[in-house]
Amino acid sequence: MKKVIYSAMRPTGKLHLGHLVGALKNWLDLQEKYLCVFGVADWHALMGEYENSEIISESTTEMVIDWLSCGLDPEKAIFAVQSHVPEHLELFMVFSCITPLGWLERNPTYKEQLREIKTRDLQTYGFLGYPVLQAADILLYKSNAVPIGEDQLPHLELTREIARRFNHIFKKEIFADCEPILTKDSRLLGLDGRKMSKSYQNTINLSDSKEVVLGKVKGMFTDPKRIKLTDPGHPNECNVCNYYCVFAPEMKEDVYNWCTKAEVGCTECKKRLADKLNAFLDPIREKRAVFEKDKNKVAEILAEGKLKASKIAKKTMDEVRGVIFK
Ligand code: TRP
Ligand code: SF4
Repeated sequence: MKKVIYSAMRPTGKLHLGHLVGALKNWLDLQEKYLCVFGVADWHALMGEYENSEIISESTTEMVIDWLSCGLDPEKAIFAVQSHVPEHLELFMVFSCITPLGWLERNPTYKEQLREIKTRDLQTYGFLGYPVLQAADILLYKSNAVPIGEDQLPHLELTREIARRFNHIFKKEIFADCEPILTKDSRLLGLDGRKMSKSYQNTINLSDSKEVVLGKVKGMFTDPKRIKLTDPGHPNECNVCNYYCVFAPEMKEDVYNWCTKAEVGCTECKKRLADKLNAFLDPIREKRAVFEKDKNKVAEILAEGKLKASKIAKKTMDEVRGVIFK
């Protein structure tokens, strides 16, 4: 039996290069070796975006097109929209009954989000239960491992505690431990040098056109000490150089040379970077164009994913109900 891997993204906007070098690249490797379930966490999206919920269905199709364009393959992995498989909510309900409030209130990710996110009111009953639904996502498929970022680690720890508590209370080993597969913090920063994030409007999106990419790269911050073309620059302190390291490592030496010896100006350096990024994005754009024209195909893929996911989900819920309502 292949190991089961579960991971998910919330459909709350366009995917960007940070998602690609962070999560998606990992997912691409994992789908070759394991049974992967890739979730569209639309209920999780609703927990944060309940006042702006149009974004969820718009982003669902677009996000799945992003996945397909990057090479995630519905022949190899299961693409499952959370709201298409109601067992997620059923297991969420069961876990809600056994999860002590203190575990949720203590959660550092929760506390941080309440502190930092000021544009939305997250003081809701549902949002406190965010990691309980996440535990249900993961355990519904009896996943063995979950690729996640560092910030999600407390959620996975909670998942493991909920699994153990369930097994203990209902005196049966239904859920096994699941391991994190830690996604290393991506070295790729946003255009302004902060973390790449939609809320900072500093992203390059997978769906950006060539022109948009060029425009965004032109606006990137560079070494502030390099003012004139004849000033030697400090590539180590320049985000443009950082992008070369991620997307064109073979050019790293050239960039160092032309920058420190003041041979090439920042405008030209950025133009060449934009060319590299566009060459990198071109095959993704080509695939995107195919799916954009054939959204029915995307719907078919999700319908197929629903069937496959439901089969596993039903089996787990039969077991769960079996130990609760004996
Ligand atoms: N909370 C995750 C995020 O915002 C998305 C998510 C939902 C998830 N359910 C999951 C991730 C289960 C891993 C496993 O990125
Ligand atoms: Fe940055 Fe390139 Fe300018 Fe050097 S030449 S400071 S690497 S943009």
